[in-house]
Amino acid sequence: MQASSNSEPTPLSLSGVTVRFGNFVANDAVDFSVGRGEIHALLGENGAGKTTLMRVVAGLLVPQSGTIHINGQRADLRSPLDAAALGVGMVHQHFMLIPTLTVAQNVCIGMRRAGRFFPDLKAVARELDAIGERYGLRVDPNALVGDLTVASQQRVEIVKALYRGARILVLDEPTAVLAPQEVAGFFRVLRTLAEAGTAIVFISHKLDEVMSLSHRVSVLRHGQLVASKPTAQTNPAELARLMIGQDLTLPQADGSARPGGMAIEVRAIGYRDERDVARLSDVSLAAHRGEIVGIAGVDGNGQQELAEVLAGLLAPRSGQVLMASPGGPVDVTGMGPGGRISLGLSHIPEDRQRTALVDLSIAENAVLETIDRRPLSHHGMISKSAIRQFADQLIARNDVRCTGPEQRIMTLSGGNQQKVVLGRALGRDPSVIVAVQPTRGLDIGATAFVHQQLLAQRARGAAIVLVSTELDEVLALSDRIVVMFAGRVIGTLSRAEVTLERLGAMMTGQAA
Ligand SMILES: Nc1ncnc2c1ncn2[C@@H]1O[C@H](COP(=O)(O)OP(=O)(O)O)[C@@H](O)[C@H]1O
Ligand SMILES: [Mg+2]
Repeated sequence: MQASSNSEPTPLSLSGVTVRFGNFVANDAVDFSVGRGEIHALLGENGAGKTTLMRVVAGLLVPQSGTIHINGQRADLRSPLDAAALGVGMVHQHFMLIPTLTVAQNVCIGMRRAGRFFPDLKAVARELDAIGERYGLRVDPNALVGDLTVASQQRVEIVKALYRGARILVLDEPTAVLAPQEVAGFFRVLRTLAEAGTAIVFISHKLDEVMSLSHRVSVLRHGQLVASKPTAQTNPAELARLMIGQDLTLPQADGSARPGGMAIEVRAIGYRDERDVARLSDVSLAAHRGEIVGIAGVDGNGQQELAEVLAGLLAPRSGQVLMASPGGPVDVTGMGPGGRISLGLSHIPEDRQRTALVDLSIAENAVLETIDRRPLSHHGMISKSAIRQFADQLIARNDVRCTGPEQRIMTLSGGNQQKVVLGRALGRDPSVIVAVQPTRGLDIGATAFVHQQLLAQRARGAAIVLVSTELDEVLALSDRIVVMFAGRVIGTLSRAEVTLERLGAMMTGQAA
């Protein structure tokens, strides 16, 4: 257990750390500390600010305000070298190894040690063996990094940090790259390291891992620290509520939904990823015209995969996808996104910048999915004036704040980018809308705009599947809430049946 005592200085302590990107506050006056021998879980949804806070600790970001103390001394970290010199090692989500070099070469690359330019690789190998022996972290110093499995590369990253003298080890979502059967061995290594006195920050959004591994847990939400307590004094349901928002007042069910016929349906969908891990198991659900079906759950429980199956971006291994058409339901299981768009489907994907937008003008982005159709093109000829008119209308209708349709989309704020995505997706009066985290990263005004648009589409008769980890958003908009856990639908609640306790329990895997 923890070897922390009052006489020893705290290895790492942050006070009032604030990081802003433009107007956006990614870390808001955060206090955070880790004791010697402590495994401290940093929990929070995607975008909560976990990585940002730890980039401050690793010397990669200088905060706008706040202080960092390492071993009781004020630390002014201006670069990763400053942090490393004070014993901070960080293993990033995306490894920073060079595949064409050996393990030993990777470990000492970029190091300044004892004034030598060329490290003695035999001595390095001996030291790596000793570290491997001590912590159960075996790596072959002479192996080429590019030949190693992802799990072994992760061990190399940890060994590299230890070789450089890390006494404070930050691991950013380390289990995301591990197969389930690799996690137990990895946790043994972390416990051994902690017993030897290392202070460990373990970033995760997986509640079960946090509960089984950590001594202490801190929860970030929208950049603010909302709780920090000994793990033994909390439970998964409480942590889920802290992550997703606990002081919710349930909006009144407005009872106005008069759902019509089935618009899209999945039956007994199964999906396994490239590592053969089951991501969706026996998922069945339907969305009807004039209805918003909210998909709730802690991030990473299959919601993303379900949305991609609905949109035609992911082919399920088993099961069926059906969509309504004028001639009756059609099986669209083998149909890609283009065919489904023709049948009236619109997808608002989660990662706007990577999957929804291309680094071109607003006008070009506005017509991305419909450029081959009338009136934008006719017999293969693209009409520039029609595109311009379409973009002008989209900008006006959606109040996109920009200099004009020629402005490059990546120079807009996140809220204005999302208005373009929404204008494009909703402008063609879709019958089915799959909206994934449609307000993530948006300010309050832009969020309200997105909500109004979705409600207007529902009133028009569209069927909406809303995937969101923001519980207040799901509660505010949905007529029915489907809760996913571990790739399965664990239950469905009507608005009248929803309570926070029930949702919290279901999100952590307890059936309704
Ligand atoms: N370099 C950056 N520039 C602008 N925004 C950023 C930058 N890095 C992170 N952000 C934003 O800060 C927020 C927190 O990001 P991050 O710390 O990566 O969250 P987490 O690790 O908890 O998922 C996100 O909304 C993200 O888009
Ligand atoms: Mg992160």
